[in-house]
Amino acid sequence: MSDKKKRRLSYGFTLLILPAALVTLSAAIGADAATSPRQGEAFFDDRVLPALAENGCALCHGQNYVRPRVLEYRELLPFLSMGSGPENNVLITKMANLRSIRADRPTHPGGQRCKSIDAEPCKTFRLWWEIEFGEPSRPSAGDK
Ligand code: HEC
Repeated sequence: MSDKKKRRLSYGFTLLILPAALVTLSAAIGADAATSPRQGEAFFDDRVLPALAENGCALCHGQNYVRPRVLEYRELLPFLSMGSGPENNVLITKMANLRSIRADRPTHPGGQRCKSIDAEPCKTFRLWWEIEFGEPSRPSAGDK
């Protein structure tokens, strides 16, 4: 077989495999996701943003030079997604200062922002995690 033919064959194979892989992947993600991504963003707008505003996050992060821009859904979400649960993710551990080597050296350069994981804004961050990545907390009408 010529090289050109081989290349064409493997290209064709990729074209066949790719959609199948994507369908499988999206089915797997769909089965695990508690809610659609839009619900996560809606929750961010309705509940997380006001909690951030109350805590004064924008005083530092609203300016362009302190990153991430925490008022942007897409910039804060990665910190929530790093970790393994509502009480164990980078956003919570930094804001409640759970992982610093010394109490006077918070892992968040802007300091401890939640007195505990039960205090705001961490309480709202934990709900947000459930919306984005958790199991549905209540069975829906059709699930009985
Ligand atoms: C007093 C100023 C200040 C306040 C208030 C503040 N931060 Fe920060 N924050 C910082 C600084 C400075 C950094 C480090 C920026 C950098 O590394 O470029 C930072 C980093 C972060 C990071 C990235 C952490 C990392 O390790 O990369 C996140 C997430 C974050 N802040 C979230 C928040 C949230 C949410 C609030 C409000 C609850 C908040 N911050 C309030 C100053 C502040």
